[in-house]
Amino acid sequence: MENFTAKLPIGVFDSGIGGISVLAEIIKALPYEEFVYFADTLHSPYGTKPEDVVRSLSIKVTEFLALMGIKSLVVACNTATSVAINEIRRKYPFPVIGMEPALKPAVGLGLTGKILVMATPLTLKSKKFNVQVQHYKDLAEIVPLPCGGLIEISEDDHSGGQEIREYLAQVFSPVNTMDISAIVLGCTHYVLIKKEIADIAGSKVVIVDGNCGTARHLRNVLQNEHLLNTAIAEKIHIPLKARVKFYASGSESEVMIRKCRQLLQNEGIVS
Ligand code: DGL
Repeated sequence: MENFTAKLPIGVFDSGIGGISVLAEIIKALPYEEFVYFADTLHSPYGTKPEDVVRSLSIKVTEFLALMGIKSLVVACNTATSVAINEIRRKYPFPVIGMEPALKPAVGLGLTGKILVMATPLTLKSKKFNVQVQHYKDLAEIVPLPCGGLIEISEDDHSGGQEIREYLAQVFSPVNTMDISAIVLGCTHYVLIKKEIADIAGSKVVIVDGNCGTARHLRNVLQNEHLLNTAIAEKIHIPLKARVKFYASGSESEVMIRKCRQLLQNEGIVS
């Protein structure tokens, strides 16, 4: 019997452009799916707001996507996941995939040295993250590095990366990079500035993010729930042609949508 729900799009949201780094990996893993991407530009950044505010913003965005008709939701934002995923799962019937700082793969590398976790202040303060740290504390020394203010700079950089480099130089000034074996990018925006982070960390430090793991997890969940869209069986072409509808909140929504498209194109995906 044909599963009509499987033909519905997958909803993906973030406070801004960061979720595009996740969406790009998801499209590579699931090229036959349709997507609705929402950037909550009006309320960005999430990571320096109170927990209850971010929870209610996340519910509002989910409600918007749910009303459009989605078969699954990816919360492509570590901050929103850390404070809102339980409530979203309680309220909505579709499978909800979240993001969390990728401590498991970082610890799994088995390297000697500290693991630095770059994330928003709210993610690092959250109960969810602190439970994660407790879980791995006997296997590695985990050092949180809150990066409040980095979202704004990475969304609005008109200096060819100079502002980002200056910010990173400042936030890394108390860090002895010789002690660090790995850096976990605990915010989806930071994946977009991975090169600048790698430059400051030095070539011996391994940079880890959860994007590919999230894409794989989503594929497994959809498969187990019989929600994969098998109706389309075209040949895969490079560049990938993705079916994505973009939405953004606030008066700058058109600018944001153009940025999102451009970032996907940088990944070899046209939409
Ligand atoms: N991309 C979001 C995350 O992964 C950014 C949060 C923010 O808006 O501060 O945490």
